[in-house]
Amino acid sequence: MADSYIIALDQGTTSSRAALINASGGLVAIEQQEFSQIFPEPGWVEHDPMEILNSQLATLQTLLKNNKVLPSEIVGIGIANQRETTVVWNKHTGKPIYNAIVWQDNRTANICEDLIKKGLEKQVKKTTGLVIDAYFSATKIHWILKHVPGAKADAANGDLLFGTIDTWLLWNFTNGKVHATDYSNASRTLLFDIENCCWDPTLLDALEIPLNMLPQVKPSSYHFGNLELGEVSIPITGIAGDQQAALFGQTCFTKGDTKNTYGTGCFMLMNTGTQAMYSNNGLLTTIAWGIDDKIYYALEGSVFIAGAAIQWLRDGLNLIETAEESELFSSLITEENPVVVVPAFAGLGAPYWDMYARGAIFGLTRDTGKNHLIKATLQSLAYQSKDVIEAMQEDAQIKINILKVDGGAAENNLLMQFQADLLDAVVQRPKITETTVMGAAYLAGICVGLWKQEELQNHRKIDKEFKPTFSIEKRERLYKKWLKALERTKNWID
Ligand code: G3P
Repeated sequence: MADSYIIALDQGTTSSRAALINASGGLVAIEQQEFSQIFPEPGWVEHDPMEILNSQLATLQTLLKNNKVLPSEIVGIGIANQRETTVVWNKHTGKPIYNAIVWQDNRTANICEDLIKKGLEKQVKKTTGLVIDAYFSATKIHWILKHVPGAKADAANGDLLFGTIDTWLLWNFTNGKVHATDYSNASRTLLFDIENCCWDPTLLDALEIPLNMLPQVKPSSYHFGNLELGEVSIPITGIAGDQQAALFGQTCFTKGDTKNTYGTGCFMLMNTGTQAMYSNNGLLTTIAWGIDDKIYYALEGSVFIAGAAIQWLRDGLNLIETAEESELFSSLITEENPVVVVPAFAGLGAPYWDMYARGAIFGLTRDTGKNHLIKATLQSLAYQSKDVIEAMQEDAQIKINILKVDGGAAENNLLMQFQADLLDAVVQRPKITETTVMGAAYLAGICVGLWKQEELQNHRKIDKEFKPTFSIEKRERLYKKWLKALERTKNWID
Protein backbone atom coordinates (compact mmCIF):
# COMPACT_ATOMS: atom_id res chain seq x y z
CA MET A 1 0.00 0.00 0.00
CA ALA A 2 1.23 3.52 -0.77
CA ASP A 3 2.50 5.64 2.11
CA SER A 4 0.71 8.82 3.19
CA TYR A 5 2.62 12.05 3.62
CA ILE A 6 1.91 15.68 4.35
CA ILE A 7 3.95 18.41 2.72
CA ALA A 8 4.50 21.61 4.66
CA LEU A 9 5.63 24.69 2.77
CA ASP A 10 7.34 27.38 4.81
CA GLN A 11 7.58 30.52 2.72
CA GLY A 12 9.83 32.68 4.93
CA THR A 13 11.47 36.09 4.62
CA THR A 14 14.77 34.82 3.26
CA SER A 15 14.02 31.36 1.90
CA SER A 16 11.31 29.06 0.61
CA ARG A 17 11.24 25.60 2.16
CA ALA A 18 9.34 22.40 1.64
CA ALA A 19 9.19 19.62 4.23
CA LEU A 20 8.04 16.04 4.04
CA ILE A 21 6.22 14.67 7.09
CA ASN A 22 5.20 11.03 7.39
CA ALA A 23 1.97 9.68 8.84
CA SER A 24 3.55 9.23 12.30
CA GLY A 25 4.40 12.94 12.39
CA GLY A 26 8.11 12.35 11.67
CA LEU A 27 10.02 15.00 9.76
CA VAL A 28 11.54 13.05 6.86
CA ALA A 29 13.31 15.75 4.82
CA ILE A 30 13.46 19.48 4.08
CA GLU A 31 14.48 21.34 0.93
CA GLN A 32 15.34 25.03 1.00
CA GLN A 33 16.02 27.72 -1.56
CA GLU A 34 17.03 31.30 -0.83
CA PHE A 35 15.77 34.16 -2.96
CA SER A 36 16.74 37.78 -3.58
CA GLN A 37 16.28 40.53 -1.07
CA ILE A 38 15.70 43.83 -2.84
CA PHE A 39 16.54 47.11 -1.09
CA PRO A 40 15.62 49.94 -3.50
CA GLU A 41 16.08 52.66 -0.85
CA PRO A 42 17.12 52.79 2.81
CA GLY A 43 14.33 51.27 4.90
CA TRP A 44 12.64 49.65 1.88
CA VAL A 45 12.56 45.84 1.51
CA GLU A 46 11.00 44.05 -1.46
CA HIS A 47 10.72 40.52 -2.88
CA ASP A 48 9.93 39.42 -6.40
CA PRO A 49 6.61 37.51 -6.09
CA MET A 50 7.43 35.37 -9.15
CA GLU A 51 10.76 34.37 -7.61
CA ILE A 52 8.95 33.44 -4.41
CA LEU A 53 6.47 31.32 -6.33
CA ASN A 54 9.13 29.62 -8.44
CA SER A 55 11.45 28.93 -5.52
CA GLN A 56 8.57 27.47 -3.54
CA LEU A 57 7.55 25.18 -6.42
CA ALA A 58 11.18 24.20 -7.02
CA THR A 59 11.68 23.08 -3.41
CA LEU A 60 8.48 21.07 -3.59
CA GLN A 61 9.53 19.30 -6.80
CA THR A 62 13.04 18.59 -5.45
CA LEU A 63 11.59 17.24 -2.22
CA LEU A 64 9.39 14.77 -4.09
CA LYS A 65 12.20 13.75 -6.43
CA ASN A 66 14.92 13.33 -3.80
CA ASN A 67 12.69 11.27 -1.56
CA LYS A 68 11.07 9.27 -4.37
CA VAL A 69 7.60 10.27 -3.23
CA LEU A 70 4.75 10.22 -5.72
CA PRO A 71 2.37 13.19 -5.73
CA SER A 72 -0.42 10.64 -5.19
CA GLU A 73 1.10 9.77 -1.79
CA ILE A 74 0.65 13.33 -0.55
CA VAL A 75 -2.64 13.56 1.28
CA GLY A 76 -2.45 17.24 2.13
CA ILE A 77 -0.36 20.39 1.87
CA GLY A 78 0.04 22.93 4.65
CA ILE A 79 1.34 26.43 4.01
CA ALA A 80 3.05 28.65 6.58
CA ASN A 81 4.24 32.04 5.39
CA GLN A 82 6.06 35.22 6.26
CA ARG A 83 3.17 37.40 7.38
CA GLU A 84 2.09 40.93 6.42
CA THR A 85 4.20 40.95 3.22
CA THR A 86 1.94 42.38 0.56
CA VAL A 87 1.37 41.40 -3.08
CA VAL A 88 -1.05 43.10 -5.47
CA TRP A 89 -1.61 41.46 -8.84
CA ASN A 90 -3.82 41.68 -11.89
CA LYS A 91 -6.34 38.87 -11.82
CA HIS A 92 -6.54 38.64 -15.62
CA THR A 93 -2.82 38.44 -16.37
CA GLY A 94 -1.72 36.92 -13.04
CA LYS A 95 1.15 39.45 -12.99
CA PRO A 96 2.07 41.39 -9.85
CA ILE A 97 1.77 45.13 -10.45
CA TYR A 98 4.65 45.84 -8.05
CA ASN A 99 7.18 43.81 -6.08
CA ALA A 100 6.01 42.34 -2.80
CA ILE A 101 6.49 44.92 -0.04
CA VAL A 102 8.02 43.00 2.83
CA TRP A 103 6.90 43.22 6.48
CA GLN A 104 10.26 44.82 7.40
CA ASP A 105 9.73 47.72 4.97
CA ASN A 106 8.95 51.02 6.68
CA ARG A 107 8.35 53.34 3.70
CA THR A 108 4.79 53.87 4.89
CA ALA A 109 5.69 55.38 8.27
CA ASN A 110 4.24 58.74 7.15
CA ILE A 111 0.95 57.12 6.09
CA CYS A 112 0.78 55.61 9.58
CA GLU A 113 1.32 59.02 11.10
CA ASP A 114 -1.60 60.39 9.07
CA LEU A 115 -3.83 57.62 10.39
CA ILE A 116 -2.74 58.41 13.93
CA LYS A 117 -3.45 62.11 13.36
CA LYS A 118 -6.92 61.18 12.09
CA GLY A 119 -7.49 59.67 15.55
CA LEU A 120 -7.75 56.06 14.33
CA GLU A 121 -5.49 54.47 16.94
CA LYS A 122 -8.26 53.37 19.31
CA GLN A 123 -10.45 52.05 16.50
CA VAL A 124 -7.53 50.08 15.04
CA LYS A 125 -6.68 48.49 18.36
CA LYS A 126 -10.27 47.62 19.20
CA THR A 127 -11.05 46.19 15.78
CA THR A 128 -7.81 44.60 14.60
CA GLY A 129 -5.93 44.09 17.88
CA LEU A 130 -2.91 45.80 16.30
CA VAL A 131 -1.09 49.11 16.59
CA ILE A 132 -0.76 51.51 13.66
CA ASP A 133 2.63 50.63 12.21
CA ALA A 134 4.27 50.25 8.80
CA TYR A 135 4.83 46.57 9.69
CA PHE A 136 1.29 45.53 8.69
CA SER A 137 -0.18 45.12 5.19
CA ALA A 138 -2.80 47.88 5.01
CA THR A 139 -0.54 50.89 4.44
CA LYS A 140 1.56 48.86 1.98
CA ILE A 141 -1.55 48.19 -0.15
CA HIS A 142 -2.39 51.90 0.01
CA TRP A 143 1.15 52.78 -1.10
CA ILE A 144 1.02 50.41 -4.11
CA LEU A 145 -2.37 51.72 -5.24
CA LYS A 146 -1.14 55.26 -4.94
CA HIS A 147 2.24 54.88 -6.66
CA VAL A 148 1.66 52.38 -9.48
CA PRO A 149 0.18 54.28 -12.44
CA GLY A 150 -3.41 53.26 -13.11
CA ALA A 151 -3.61 50.98 -10.07
CA LYS A 152 -6.30 52.93 -8.27
CA ALA A 153 -8.66 52.79 -11.25
CA ASP A 154 -7.90 49.11 -11.90
CA ALA A 155 -8.58 48.31 -8.25
CA ALA A 156 -11.87 50.19 -8.39
CA ASN A 157 -12.80 48.20 -11.52
CA GLY A 158 -12.17 44.93 -9.69
CA ASP A 159 -9.14 43.97 -11.80
CA LEU A 160 -6.63 43.75 -8.94
CA LEU A 161 -6.26 41.28 -6.11
CA PHE A 162 -4.41 41.64 -2.84
CA GLY A 163 -2.87 38.81 -0.91
CA THR A 164 -0.35 38.03 1.76
CA ILE A 165 2.11 35.39 0.56
CA ASP A 166 -0.16 32.44 1.44
CA THR A 167 -2.89 33.92 -0.75
CA TRP A 168 -0.48 34.61 -3.60
CA LEU A 169 0.75 30.99 -3.52
CA LEU A 170 -2.75 29.56 -3.15
CA TRP A 171 -4.09 31.57 -6.09
CA ASN A 172 -1.23 30.41 -8.30
CA PHE A 173 -1.31 26.80 -7.09
CA THR A 174 -5.03 26.61 -7.92
CA ASN A 175 -4.53 28.27 -11.33
CA GLY A 176 -6.34 31.41 -10.23
CA LYS A 177 -9.41 29.55 -8.94
CA VAL A 178 -9.09 30.33 -5.23
CA HIS A 179 -8.52 33.76 -3.72
CA ALA A 180 -8.49 33.09 0.00
CA THR A 181 -6.48 33.32 3.21
CA ASP A 182 -6.88 32.02 6.76
CA TYR A 183 -7.89 33.88 9.92
CA SER A 184 -4.34 34.10 11.26
CA ASN A 185 -3.01 35.85 8.15
CA ALA A 186 -6.05 38.10 7.80
CA SER A 187 -5.48 39.28 11.36
CA ARG A 188 -2.09 40.73 10.33
CA THR A 189 -3.38 43.09 7.65
CA LEU A 190 -4.66 45.90 9.92
CA LEU A 191 -7.96 45.57 8.02
CA PHE A 192 -9.58 42.59 9.72
CA ASP A 193 -12.10 42.75 12.54
CA ILE A 194 -10.79 39.93 14.72
CA GLU A 195 -13.90 39.47 16.85
CA ASN A 196 -16.59 39.75 14.16
CA CYS A 197 -14.32 38.00 11.65
CA CYS A 198 -14.86 40.28 8.67
CA TRP A 199 -13.00 43.01 6.79
CA ASP A 200 -13.57 46.37 8.48
CA PRO A 201 -15.29 48.98 6.25
CA THR A 202 -14.00 52.00 8.23
CA LEU A 203 -10.37 51.03 7.83
CA LEU A 204 -10.82 50.09 4.17
CA ASP A 205 -12.36 53.49 3.64
CA ALA A 206 -9.62 55.36 5.51
CA LEU A 207 -6.97 53.72 3.32
CA GLU A 208 -9.02 53.77 0.10
CA ILE A 209 -8.81 50.02 -0.40
CA PRO A 210 -11.72 48.45 -2.31
CA LEU A 211 -13.25 45.42 -0.61
CA ASN A 212 -13.27 43.44 -3.87
CA MET A 213 -9.43 43.18 -3.75
CA LEU A 214 -9.47 41.23 -0.52
CA PRO A 215 -9.43 37.44 -0.19
CA GLN A 216 -12.09 35.29 1.44
CA VAL A 217 -11.12 34.32 4.98
CA LYS A 218 -11.32 30.68 6.05
CA PRO A 219 -10.29 28.51 9.03
CA SER A 220 -6.61 27.53 9.23
CA SER A 221 -7.36 23.81 8.97
CA TYR A 222 -9.59 23.74 5.89
CA HIS A 223 -9.68 22.41 2.34
CA PHE A 224 -8.79 25.60 0.46
CA GLY A 225 -8.41 24.08 -3.00
CA ASN A 226 -6.03 21.80 -4.89
CA LEU A 227 -2.50 22.15 -6.18
CA GLU A 228 -2.55 20.90 -9.74
CA LEU A 229 0.67 18.94 -10.30
CA GLY A 230 0.64 17.21 -13.70
CA GLU A 231 -2.13 14.62 -13.62
CA VAL A 232 -2.39 14.80 -9.86
CA SER A 233 -4.31 17.21 -7.76
CA ILE A 234 -3.19 17.58 -4.14
CA PRO A 235 -5.49 19.14 -1.53
CA ILE A 236 -4.24 22.25 0.26
CA THR A 237 -5.68 21.73 3.71
CA GLY A 238 -3.85 24.05 6.08
CA ILE A 239 -2.72 27.68 6.07
CA ALA A 240 -1.34 29.83 8.88
CA GLY A 241 1.04 32.72 9.34
CA ASP A 242 4.44 31.28 10.21
CA GLN A 243 4.46 32.44 13.84
CA GLN A 244 1.00 31.10 14.52
CA ALA A 245 2.02 27.86 12.79
CA ALA A 246 5.02 27.64 15.14
CA LEU A 247 2.70 28.14 18.14
CA PHE A 248 0.63 25.24 16.83
CA GLY A 249 3.75 23.20 16.07
CA GLN A 250 4.95 23.69 19.66
CA THR A 251 1.53 22.27 20.67
CA CYS A 252 0.75 25.44 22.64
CA PHE A 253 -2.92 24.47 22.72
CA THR A 254 -3.77 25.60 26.25
CA LYS A 255 -4.37 29.13 27.47
CA GLY A 256 -1.09 30.54 28.81
CA ASP A 257 1.16 28.28 26.66
CA THR A 258 3.92 30.47 25.19
CA LYS A 259 6.60 30.08 22.53
CA ASN A 260 9.45 32.25 21.32
CA THR A 261 10.96 31.87 17.86
CA TYR A 262 14.48 33.23 17.42
CA GLY A 263 14.58 33.96 13.69
CA THR A 264 15.55 37.11 11.80
CA GLY A 265 13.39 38.75 14.45
CA CYS A 266 11.99 37.25 17.63
CA PHE A 267 8.33 36.38 17.77
CA MET A 268 6.78 35.50 21.10
CA LEU A 269 3.18 34.31 21.18
CA MET A 270 0.96 33.27 24.05
CA ASN A 271 -2.24 31.30 23.49
CA THR A 272 -5.07 33.20 25.20
CA GLY A 273 -7.85 30.74 24.32
CA THR A 274 -11.10 31.63 22.59
CA GLN A 275 -11.21 35.14 24.08
CA ALA A 276 -9.28 37.99 22.49
CA MET A 277 -7.16 39.64 25.18
CA TYR A 278 -6.21 43.29 24.59
CA SER A 279 -2.87 44.61 25.71
CA ASN A 280 -2.16 47.64 27.87
CA ASN A 281 1.56 47.12 27.35
CA GLY A 282 2.25 47.42 23.64
CA LEU A 283 1.54 43.83 22.60
CA LEU A 284 -0.59 42.76 19.69
CA THR A 285 -3.79 40.77 19.84
CA THR A 286 -3.89 38.37 16.98
CA ILE A 287 -5.77 35.33 15.76
CA ALA A 288 -3.78 32.19 16.50
CA TRP A 289 -5.86 29.90 14.30
CA GLY A 290 -9.37 28.97 13.35
CA ILE A 291 -10.20 25.31 13.76
CA ASP A 292 -13.44 23.34 14.23
CA ASP A 293 -15.61 26.46 13.96
CA LYS A 294 -13.68 28.11 16.78
CA ILE A 295 -11.27 31.03 16.71
CA TYR A 296 -8.31 30.97 19.10
CA TYR A 297 -6.42 34.13 19.96
CA ALA A 298 -2.89 34.98 20.99
CA LEU A 299 -0.97 37.87 22.47
CA GLU A 300 2.14 38.60 20.43
CA GLY A 301 5.30 40.55 20.90
CA SER A 302 7.46 40.99 17.80
CA VAL A 303 11.09 42.01 18.10
CA PHE A 304 12.37 43.15 14.70
CA ILE A 305 16.08 42.38 15.02
CA ALA A 306 17.26 39.14 16.62
CA GLY A 307 19.12 36.69 14.35
CA ALA A 308 19.65 39.70 12.09
CA ALA A 309 21.90 41.15 14.80
CA ILE A 310 24.07 38.01 14.65
CA GLN A 311 24.15 38.39 10.86
CA TRP A 312 25.36 41.94 11.43
CA LEU A 313 28.24 40.62 13.54
CA ARG A 314 29.07 38.19 10.71
CA ASP A 315 28.44 40.19 7.53
CA GLY A 316 28.53 43.81 8.69
CA LEU A 317 31.38 43.78 11.22
CA ASN A 318 33.13 40.54 10.15
CA LEU A 319 33.65 39.65 13.82
CA ILE A 320 32.55 36.05 13.33
CA GLU A 321 32.55 33.72 10.35
CA THR A 322 29.47 31.72 11.25
CA ALA A 323 26.50 32.44 13.49
CA GLU A 324 27.47 29.41 15.62
CA GLU A 325 30.82 31.05 16.47
CA SER A 326 28.96 33.67 18.50
CA GLU A 327 28.49 31.06 21.24
CA LEU A 328 32.19 30.18 21.38
CA PHE A 329 33.44 33.80 21.50
CA SER A 330 30.77 34.78 24.03
CA SER A 331 31.79 31.94 26.32
CA LEU A 332 35.30 33.47 26.54
CA ILE A 333 33.84 36.35 28.56
CA THR A 334 33.35 34.71 31.91
CA GLU A 335 32.88 37.85 34.03
CA GLU A 336 29.76 40.03 33.86
CA ASN A 337 29.62 41.77 30.49
CA PRO A 338 29.79 45.57 30.96
CA VAL A 339 28.81 46.18 27.32
CA VAL A 340 25.19 46.52 26.20
CA VAL A 341 24.18 46.47 22.54
CA VAL A 342 20.68 47.66 21.62
CA PRO A 343 20.13 46.47 18.03
CA ALA A 344 17.32 48.90 17.20
CA PHE A 345 18.48 48.90 13.57
CA ALA A 346 14.93 49.13 12.24
CA GLY A 347 13.39 51.00 15.16
CA LEU A 348 11.88 49.18 18.11
CA GLY A 349 8.96 46.74 17.85
CA ALA A 350 6.99 45.42 20.80
CA PRO A 351 6.47 46.59 23.45
CA TYR A 352 7.90 50.03 22.54
CA TRP A 353 6.85 50.65 18.91
CA ASP A 354 9.32 53.39 18.09
CA MET A 355 9.92 53.65 14.32
CA TYR A 356 12.53 56.34 14.98
CA ALA A 357 14.79 54.53 17.46
CA ARG A 358 18.22 53.40 16.19
CA GLY A 359 20.84 50.95 17.44
CA ALA A 360 23.59 51.83 19.93
CA ILE A 361 26.46 50.32 21.93
CA PHE A 362 26.95 51.27 25.57
CA GLY A 363 29.54 50.72 28.28
CA LEU A 364 32.69 50.81 26.13
CA THR A 365 36.02 51.13 27.94
CA ARG A 366 39.62 50.94 26.76
CA ASP A 367 39.71 47.17 27.34
CA THR A 368 36.49 46.38 25.46
CA GLY A 369 37.23 43.68 22.93
CA LYS A 370 35.37 41.97 20.16
CA ASN A 371 34.14 39.18 22.43
CA HIS A 372 32.37 41.70 24.66
CA LEU A 373 30.62 43.06 21.61
CA ILE A 374 29.67 39.61 20.35
CA LYS A 375 28.35 38.54 23.74
CA ALA A 376 26.41 41.79 24.22
CA THR A 377 24.79 41.36 20.80
CA LEU A 378 23.82 37.79 21.62
CA GLN A 379 22.48 38.87 24.99
CA SER A 380 20.36 41.56 23.33
CA LEU A 381 18.13 38.77 21.95
CA ALA A 382 17.40 37.60 25.48
CA TYR A 383 16.88 41.14 26.83
CA GLN A 384 14.43 42.01 24.06
CA SER A 385 12.55 38.77 24.71
CA LYS A 386 12.45 39.66 28.40
CA ASP A 387 10.86 43.03 27.53
CA VAL A 388 8.12 41.20 25.68
CA ILE A 389 7.54 38.53 28.31
CA GLU A 390 7.25 41.14 31.06
CA ALA A 391 4.51 42.88 29.06
CA MET A 392 2.81 39.56 28.34
CA GLN A 393 2.71 38.46 31.95
CA GLU A 394 1.31 41.82 32.95
CA ASP A 395 -1.43 41.75 30.29
CA ALA A 396 -2.47 38.14 30.74
CA GLN A 397 -1.91 38.12 34.50
CA ILE A 398 -0.26 34.74 33.97
CA LYS A 399 3.29 33.90 35.11
CA ILE A 400 5.12 32.15 32.31
CA ASN A 401 6.94 29.25 33.94
CA ILE A 402 7.94 27.49 30.74
CA LEU A 403 8.99 29.18 27.53
CA LYS A 404 9.04 26.86 24.51
CA VAL A 405 11.73 27.95 22.08
CA ASP A 406 12.63 27.33 18.46
CA GLY A 407 14.35 29.01 15.50
CA GLY A 408 18.05 29.14 14.62
CA ALA A 409 19.38 30.85 17.75
CA ALA A 410 17.47 28.42 20.01
CA GLU A 411 20.36 26.03 19.26
CA ASN A 412 22.71 28.39 21.09
CA ASN A 413 23.01 26.91 24.61
CA LEU A 414 24.69 29.97 26.08
CA LEU A 415 21.88 32.22 24.88
CA MET A 416 19.18 29.83 26.09
CA GLN A 417 20.77 29.60 29.54
CA PHE A 418 21.02 33.40 29.73
CA GLN A 419 17.38 33.61 28.64
CA ALA A 420 16.29 31.27 31.45
CA ASP A 421 18.41 33.24 33.95
CA LEU A 422 16.93 36.57 32.88
CA LEU A 423 13.33 35.35 32.81
CA ASP A 424 13.43 33.22 35.92
CA ALA A 425 11.61 30.57 33.86
CA VAL A 426 12.44 27.21 32.33
CA VAL A 427 13.40 27.46 28.68
CA GLN A 428 12.34 24.30 26.86
CA ARG A 429 13.76 23.28 23.51
CA PRO A 430 12.03 20.48 21.55
CA LYS A 431 13.92 17.83 19.59
CA ILE A 432 12.38 19.05 16.35
CA THR A 433 12.92 22.81 16.30
CA GLU A 434 11.26 23.04 12.88
CA THR A 435 8.04 24.00 14.61
CA THR A 436 6.74 26.21 11.81
CA VAL A 437 6.68 23.38 9.28
CA MET A 438 5.31 21.00 11.91
CA GLY A 439 2.48 23.45 12.69
CA ALA A 440 1.56 23.82 9.02
CA ALA A 441 1.70 20.02 8.64
CA TYR A 442 -0.46 19.45 11.73
CA LEU A 443 -3.13 21.87 10.49
CA ALA A 444 -3.17 20.17 7.09
CA GLY A 445 -3.11 16.65 8.59
CA ILE A 446 -5.95 17.34 11.02
CA CYS A 447 -8.13 18.51 8.14
CA VAL A 448 -7.68 15.27 6.17
CA GLY A 449 -8.21 13.12 9.28
CA LEU A 450 -4.59 11.91 9.49
CA TRP A 451 -4.23 13.14 13.10
CA LYS A 452 -6.38 14.34 15.95
CA GLN A 453 -5.28 17.56 17.68
CA GLU A 454 -5.30 15.89 21.12
CA GLU A 455 -2.77 13.27 19.96
CA LEU A 456 -0.20 15.79 18.75
CA GLN A 457 1.34 16.45 22.18
CA ASN A 458 2.73 12.89 21.98
CA HIS A 459 4.68 13.78 18.82
CA ARG A 460 6.61 16.58 20.53
CA LYS A 461 9.75 15.37 22.35
CA ILE A 462 11.95 17.60 24.54
CA ASP A 463 15.63 18.00 23.68
CA LYS A 464 16.81 20.14 26.60
CA GLU A 465 15.47 22.29 29.45
CA PHE A 466 17.44 25.30 30.73
CA LYS A 467 16.72 26.18 34.36
CA PRO A 468 17.24 29.65 35.88
CA THR A 469 20.31 30.17 38.09
CA PHE A 470 20.56 33.97 38.74
CA SER A 471 19.83 35.54 42.11
CA ILE A 472 17.00 38.11 42.11
CA GLU A 473 19.58 40.84 42.75
CA LYS A 474 21.67 39.91 39.71
CA ARG A 475 18.66 39.51 37.44
CA GLU A 476 17.26 42.88 38.40
CA ARG A 477 20.58 44.70 38.22
CA LEU A 478 21.35 43.47 34.70
CA TYR A 479 17.88 44.18 33.45
CA LYS A 480 17.94 47.71 34.86
CA LYS A 481 21.13 48.38 32.90
CA TRP A 482 19.49 47.14 29.72
CA LEU A 483 16.44 49.36 30.22
CA LYS A 484 18.69 52.36 30.79
CA ALA A 485 20.52 51.70 27.52
CA LEU A 486 17.31 51.07 25.61
CA GLU A 487 15.78 54.32 26.79
CA ARG A 488 18.66 56.22 25.19
CA THR A 489 18.07 54.72 21.72
CA LYS A 490 14.49 55.95 21.47
CA ASN A 491 13.36 58.66 19.07
CA TRP A 492 16.84 59.05 17.55
CA ILE A 493 15.82 59.96 13.98
CA ASP A 494 14.40 63.48 13.63
O1 G3P B 1 5.68 38.88 10.90
C1 G3P B 1 6.78 38.51 10.12
C2 G3P B 1 7.11 37.07 10.29
O2 G3P B 1 6.02 36.28 9.93
C3 G3P B 1 8.37 36.70 9.52
O3 G3P B 1 8.83 35.46 9.89
O4 G3P B 1 10.33 33.55 9.88
O5 G3P B 1 9.98 34.77 7.77
O6 G3P B 1 11.29 35.82 9.60
P1 G3P B 1 10.20 34.86 9.24
